[in-house]
Amino acid sequence: MDVVIAVLLAYLLGAVSFSYEITKKVKKIDIRTTGSGNAGATNTMRILGTGPAIIVLSLDIIKGIAAVWIARGLEQMAVLPTLFPAVATEGLAPALAGFAAILGHNWPVYYGFRGGKGVATTVGVVASLVFFPAIYVGLAAIAAIIVTRYVSLGSLIFGVFTPVVLWFTMSHYDHPPPYFWFSVAVGVLLVYQHRTNVVRLLRGTESKLGKKSS
Ligand code: G3P
Repeated sequence: MDVVIAVLLAYLLGAVSFSYEITKKVKKIDIRTTGSGNAGATNTMRILGTGPAIIVLSLDIIKGIAAVWIARGLEQMAVLPTLFPAVATEGLAPALAGFAAILGHNWPVYYGFRGGKGVATTVGVVASLVFFPAIYVGLAAIAAIIVTRYVSLGSLIFGVFTPVVLWFTMSHYDHPPPYFWFSVAVGVLLVYQHRTNVVRLLRGTESKLGKKSS
């Protein structure tokens, strides 16, 4: 087993779309053709309601956590550093695996490479890598969602402010340097995935939480 396999496993795990599978099972529709067209928890809420959305959210977060912990396990067993010396850099393998899981969620091989925006999986990965900074930014994002009812705004806050908080807390928490660069890459990816949401937010046409789609 080497780092390529760890990253591949993470990608294949991340590519399992719970929103797609649950929406297909319950309503016999492709989530990507309804509501915002995004294969994620927010759109599941529009289509199926709160309960299924919470299930999707939880499973997508767990997917991210699992990807990081698989790589951490391999790293701790010294499997990765032995077979691939570059990953001896502390924290590189879990960060790469986490990024691969997010890529899998966004561009899943099982569903024609059309997936979601990767927010919940990003939360799972970031919380596994840098727990306290993720909690601080996560609370700010949740507060923004509660006040504005725009999930996308909360997601954008999480993507943009995670690297900022990591930068200022790096010495305090002593995180490995790859985690900061990982959070920058993830933030850029998350903003890119929300580009249509950004336009709608600026135009005031973004849909608010709680509006069900037919
Ligand atoms: O879960 C992604 C969220 O930030 C936006 O989702 O469906 O409103 O584009 P959606």
